[in-house]
Amino acid sequence: MARSTGQYQVISLRDEPVRAFVPFPLPPTAPELVVEARIAALLTEAEAAVRELNLAASLVPSSDWFLYGFVRKEAVLTSQVEGTQATLQDVLAFEATQQSDRPEDVREVCNYVEAITYARGQLADPAGLPLSTRLLCAVHRILMQGARGADKQPGEIRRSQNWIGGTRPGNARFVPPPPGEVGPALGALEQWIHGDDPLPPLIRAGLAHVQFETIHPFLDGNGRIGRMLVALLVEHWGLLDQPLLCLSVAIRQWQREYYNRLSAVRTEGDWEGWTEFFLDCVRIAAREGVSVARELNALRQRDRDRLLRESSATVAAIRLFELLPEHPMVTAQRVAELLRTTAPTARKAIELLVRLGILNETTGRERDRVYAYREYLQILAGDA
Ligand SMILES: Nc1ncnc2c1ncn2[C@@H]1O[C@H](COP(=O)(O)OP(=O)(O)OP(=O)(O)O)[C@@H](O)[C@H]1O
Ligand SMILES: [Mg+2]
Repeated sequence: MARSTGQYQVISLRDEPVRAFVPFPLPPTAPELVVEARIAALLTEAEAAVRELNLAASLVPSSDWFLYGFVRKEAVLTSQVEGTQATLQDVLAFEATQQSDRPEDVREVCNYVEAITYARGQLADPAGLPLSTRLLCAVHRILMQGARGADKQPGEIRRSQNWIGGTRPGNARFVPPPPGEVGPALGALEQWIHGDDPLPPLIRAGLAHVQFETIHPFLDGNGRIGRMLVALLVEHWGLLDQPLLCLSVAIRQWQREYYNRLSAVRTEGDWEGWTEFFLDCVRIAAREGVSVARELNALRQRDRDRLLRESSATVAAIRLFELLPEHPMVTAQRVAELLRTTAPTARKAIELLVRLGILNETTGRERDRVYAYREYLQILAGDA
């Protein structure tokens, strides 16, 4: 399908002519995006998988802890697309021990969690920011906190020309719009998001993602903000009650195709090909979420039964067990705080859960030990 999705502006950079791409505002036109049979079938499957995920999330005993795990998982994976190496364990270990020297990769993941939490808070608050350029800038500022982001103009739309792939704009794979075009392009995207385009919301979320990546409004972090935008839209448009869609699972698996599909929208006007790819990713991410929910439920049930059958089970141990989903890595001190109890009582509760194989010590040290609900983390991280 050949259609034009934007215009090239030739600018001069470092004495070289460079073709910067300025996308037309959404929706796709000439021709319009039609939900024909193939796309319709993929849409039906993706929507069904998302509904099932929503249901699975509502059936877990505490959806807070389910969400907690998912947001962190997405944060770890989305940061790994960029090459940050932190694992879910690293992040939770940091949270459990509250060390002051946080590795920079763990920091990036924590930033992501903080950023999406902030965005959801704003959207849920009638007096908060709507989904808008301003909100995305505020989110970007949080995402880029810390050393690695400091020179990336956190929270600000770029004022210089950027490029993707290649050593300079002249040999780049893709040169996004010149800085002067970024504000208007984002404004148009914002308007379209709040407009009444009749395309199905899931498809619209995918289109918004491409448009955002094509505008590439920030000096860095565009991939992460663009994926978060999908999570926020899917929630905003009522497809999910929580940001449980871990799109990065699928995108990481097909990273090359992901990049190619983004490019093909610009070079060949292939919105249809993108939409098929995106709906595939959504279906896979949602089904993955459902199976994680099921496994977590089964594990919790099994471990709770084991604990309740144990004659030496204490109230503290049971309370600790119930807290684990939200605090899957703990220290003795943290447990004492959480349970508002004494250090010996906390230690005894931990010891019992260790004896039952629910908690595992992770450091091998005698002091400052850290205990993990290992099976739970393995399921959540997808490497059970
Ligand atoms: N050919 C392309 N056309 C449009 N967008 C692209 C293209 N190739 C990659 N991208 C987008 O650019 C993102 C990378 O940009 P940037 O480095 O600003 O984001 P990031 O969040 O730091 O990185 P990452 O997405 O790798 O984690 C990719 O994730 C993808 O969404
Ligand atoms: Mg980057």
